[in-house]
Amino acid sequence: MDCYKIVLVTIVSFMLLVQNTKEWGEDGHVIVCKIAQARLSDAAAKAVKKLLPESANNDLSSKCSWADHVRFIYPWSSALHFADTPDSVCSYNNKRDCKDQKTGIKGRCVVGAITNYTNQLLDYGSAIKPKYNLTQALYFLSHFMGDIHQPLHCGFVSDKGGNEITVHWYTRKQNLHHVWDVSIIETELERFYDSELGEFIDAIQQNITKVWAKEVEEWENCSLDNIACPSIYASESSVDACKWAYKDASEGSTLKDDYFLSRFPIVNLRLAQGGVRLAATLNRIFDNDTKLAMSM
Ligand SMILES: *[C@@H]1O[C@H](CO)[C@@H](O)[C@H](O)[C@H]1NC(C)=O
Ligand SMILES: *[C@@H]1O[C@H](CO)[C@@H](O)[C@H](O)[C@H]1NC(C)=O
Ligand SMILES: *[C@@H]1O[C@H](CO)[C@@H](O)[C@H](O)[C@H]1NC(C)=O
Ligand SMILES: *[C@@H]1O[C@H](CO)[C@@H](O)[C@H](O)[C@H]1NC(C)=O
Ligand SMILES: *[C@@H]1O[C@H](CO)[C@@H](O)[C@H](O)[C@H]1NC(C)=O
Repeated sequence: MDCYKIVLVTIVSFMLLVQNTKEWGEDGHVIVCKIAQARLSDAAAKAVKKLLPESANNDLSSKCSWADHVRFIYPWSSALHFADTPDSVCSYNNKRDCKDQKTGIKGRCVVGAITNYTNQLLDYGSAIKPKYNLTQALYFLSHFMGDIHQPLHCGFVSDKGGNEITVHWYTRKQNLHHVWDVSIIETELERFYDSELGEFIDAIQQNITKVWAKEVEEWENCSLDNIACPSIYASESSVDACKWAYKDASEGSTLKDDYFLSRFPIVNLRLAQGGVRLAATLNRIFDNDTKLAMSM
């Protein structure tokens, strides 16, 4: 009996631990990557399939939380999930904000990381052996394109993007960052989609083709000959963080329907934009390689 209890306590604690370390939740990343993979050009779809291991069954979304799982074995990668601004500053500034907040190293933020892994992937199909592991570059890029669209990944430095603001999500104690990574999506799934992730993804995809059809071209757009445009996405998140995430969610507040019903459309929009832009970026990366396109 005692032994049974110990095992049970161990399992439950482990489950709580796992739950607490989830980011933009697994669900958020699956949604972004499923939307993206369905929008790939032939050349990009082929490249992605080749870069994924057999075991992934050509499902990019199964690897889109990989970057969270390696945060402990690659400690340098921790800073790459965020681009926080000084307190109460609601606009992202590349020069000021893109750095590792602990070490001060410049360029180590989600914006720099998207540029970094985009550049690495441009070596795909080149005659010279790439310097970096391009499978990992794909995993990182796919993950960070999700993160950068979560407003509180571009929140304030002092509260760690809402991680240090304790609120109640309905009756449950939660931190504000987690509310945006996980809880809003979870509540949407339960309330509107019978907890079926596939139905939720279908609904977003329908809106991409019907409701947002006009805007989608703008989302995909990247000025001049840039392959990736992460600064734009961080700037949008930074605005949304002030306008939607931090607003009416100070330390100790209780967030209920008022907050949920006005915020979930923002979450849906950001998930849609993340997916559309990940696809557009991968298409620009792999379509650019005409040699590859011709050889396959
Ligand atoms: C770029 O990616 C490589 C390989 O993951 C990593 O070692 C390097 O620190 C990254 N640089 C930035 C600025 O993210
Ligand atoms: C590249 O990274 C993937 C994912 O971590 C790994 O499975 C694979 O073995 C790596 N490839 C090389 C050549 O190191
Ligand atoms: C789709 O768009 C409709 C109309 O704007 C909106 O009511 C609904 O919440 C949207 N659904 C998703 C999943 O974005
Ligand atoms: C895309 O960006 C270019 C250059 O910044 C601009 O000229 C064009 O009008 C934009 N197109 C859309 C659909 O936003
Ligand atoms: C396309 O790829 C070639 C090399 O493969 C590179 O020289 C060129 O700069 C790329 N184009 C853009 C717009 O980055």
